[in-house]
Amino acid sequence: MTRDEVLKALLDNADGYINGVELAKKLSLSRTAVWKAIGQLQKEGYEIESRHNKGYCLRSTGDVLSAGGIARHLRHKELRVHVYKSIDSTNTALKALAAKGAEAGLALVAEQQTAGRGRMGRSFYSPAESGLYLSLLLRPTIPAAQAVRLTACAAVAVAETIEELSGRETAIKWVNDVFMDGHKVCGILTEASVDCESGLLHYAVVGIGVNLRRPAGGFPEELRGVAGAALDGVKVQELRCRLAAGILDRLTDYAENPADPAIFDGYRRRSLVLGREINILAPGRDPEPAVAEDLADDYSLLVRLSDGSTRRLSSGEVSVRI
Ligand code: BTN
Repeated sequence: MTRDEVLKALLDNADGYINGVELAKKLSLSRTAVWKAIGQLQKEGYEIESRHNKGYCLRSTGDVLSAGGIARHLRHKELRVHVYKSIDSTNTALKALAAKGAEAGLALVAEQQTAGRGRMGRSFYSPAESGLYLSLLLRPTIPAAQAVRLTACAAVAVAETIEELSGRETAIKWVNDVFMDGHKVCGILTEASVDCESGLLHYAVVGIGVNLRRPAGGFPEELRGVAGAALDGVKVQELRCRLAAGILDRLTDYAENPADPAIFDGYRRRSLVLGREINILAPGRDPEPAVAEDLADDYSLLVRLSDGSTRRLSSGEVSVRI
């Protein structure tokens, strides 16, 4: 594709100028084709300076989200990444591809979702420009009952990547929300298909939605006070590409051995609930007060209720009492 070739030539030339005529000759293109490709890249957000007699210079890649940009930052070069400006839901689309036999390592990344889905049948607010939404297809040979480990792998992968890019601390709220300064900055939804005979997974689609920045008009009413932004004010080139690549690389590493104790330690160390007073939340029921006492290595939460009895929660939702 002409656009990709021109971009590659500009990237290879780092901060220098490339003469338009030379560029056209090098790529065996017409000058008009080069000029059109430059216009397209500028429209996408690349800062390209154009000077009479000197040519073109790529000043900044800004925060353009592209498959090529993500690939440049990926260690796991075998991953196949598709990027969408807008999609209904990366999880929905990837599940359809998985059902048709797509291989593990396929990732769908989007700038915006029009029908983003959250846990418990909720919708997930997925506006353009301020967030990053991605799903990775995994095909691990593990029992369905252990699928929660993949979610934990994702939570640790997200937490570490955000910490690396922001230089700030994160916390993980059981089961799988990533928090910063008391606000949720990432949600994770793992969906799987199970072989009923063996009880093993056919596939798992791990979906991750990160709020990078506060949306221009602020978060919608129902999310105010709850949602936060992970990377507000962080000025790093190709931030969304680096975030996507960091998460995909780590999740790929961890999913190779989801029972690795180092992942459990990374999760436990960041736990927002352990030792705290919580409410157990269930649809149609009053919040039930408890204390989160321990985390078992299958990620179930051991809680003490107000009558002194204990309970093991293996799924569901809790809130931290302040
Ligand atoms: C939650 O907080 O309830 C989980 C939210 C998961 C959102 C991500 S965004 C990418 C992927 N596609 C979806 O439709 N949902 C997940």
